[in-house]
Amino acid sequence: MRVFSGIQPSGNLHLGNYLGAIVNFVKLQNNAECIYCVVDLHSITVWQDPSKLQKNIYEITAGFIASGLDPEKSIIFNQSKVKEHAELSWLLNCVARVGWLNRMTQFKEKAGKNKENMSVGLYTYPILMAADILAYKATHVPVGEDQKQHIELSRDIAQKFNIDFKDRIQQLYNKDEFFILPEPLISGPVPRVMSLRDGHKKMSSSEISDMTRINILDEADLIANKIKKAKTDSDSIPDNYELVNDRPELKNLLSIYAGVLGESPKKIIEDFSGKQFSHLKTSLTELLVERICPIGNEMKKIMSDKSYINNILNNGASKAREISEPVLVETKKIIGLS
Ligand code: TRP
Repeated sequence: MRVFSGIQPSGNLHLGNYLGAIVNFVKLQNNAECIYCVVDLHSITVWQDPSKLQKNIYEITAGFIASGLDPEKSIIFNQSKVKEHAELSWLLNCVARVGWLNRMTQFKEKAGKNKENMSVGLYTYPILMAADILAYKATHVPVGEDQKQHIELSRDIAQKFNIDFKDRIQQLYNKDEFFILPEPLISGPVPRVMSLRDGHKKMSSSEISDMTRINILDEADLIANKIKKAKTDSDSIPDNYELVNDRPELKNLLSIYAGVLGESPKKIIEDFSGKQFSHLKTSLTELLVERICPIGNEMKKIMSDKSYINNILNNGASKAREISEPVLVETKKIIGLS
């Protein structure tokens, strides 16, 4: 079992990243070989302020460490330091089909009506993601639910490559398949943390209003204010979890509560049933201040030590290259480029 996953350094590491991904990353590092990547090349598919990008890369790295990832156990690095990602991505661009990319719902959602004006990178983004995964022959990819389609695409690309070059793979390496088809792992405590202002939208670092999310670096009073102003409905809290399905904002606050505490939402609802929203909100604020603020404080400490972070990223990049470089060399050989 080899695990690969990535988070974009687009600023504002938030509760969605933490509950949907990082908590799971930390658990996995004790049972598998894990590679965690700050995917800076993905983040520039939409414009990033050059004066902030480096800081954002440090922020994600610090978030990884503060949450419990151990650079001795897991490989931690940023994507642009390992050129194999970009190079393999080109090779896979020539394997993937336009029709496949045209089905990607994340591109359609991000581009909206403005498709013609998006960067080509945003369109081919899932191919770079496939390169990230396939360059390490990762078997498992922990991601939020929204990334499932991209993992499917990575599988399709791996499979088409294996079929297109079947004879060559057989002849050179005496194997039936070269790339491994990766499996998604959707088992974070909360696979989809939603916006505090709209229970139908994912919590996101690119949302303009900061009130839609809890950032890991938020101070206690800001967290209190965001939770207080979080959207709710006017009913009280039912005793059965099935009944929250058509109340997305309530469902979201309960899942966040459960996720941070490490309990199931079904159990949490028993504690709050019959009570008003304000009661849930007060308890949730206390819980977040108790569990999330210390991670934020630790992140700030780590971020103030740039040479420590640089060290982690440089070491991680050289370990990553030890795996991905031979894969790229072999891929080029299979294609006939060397
Ligand atoms: N696209 C992922 C996201 O936005 C980030 C990502 C890039 C990724 N490359 C990856 C996730 C490889 C898993 C594996 O969440």
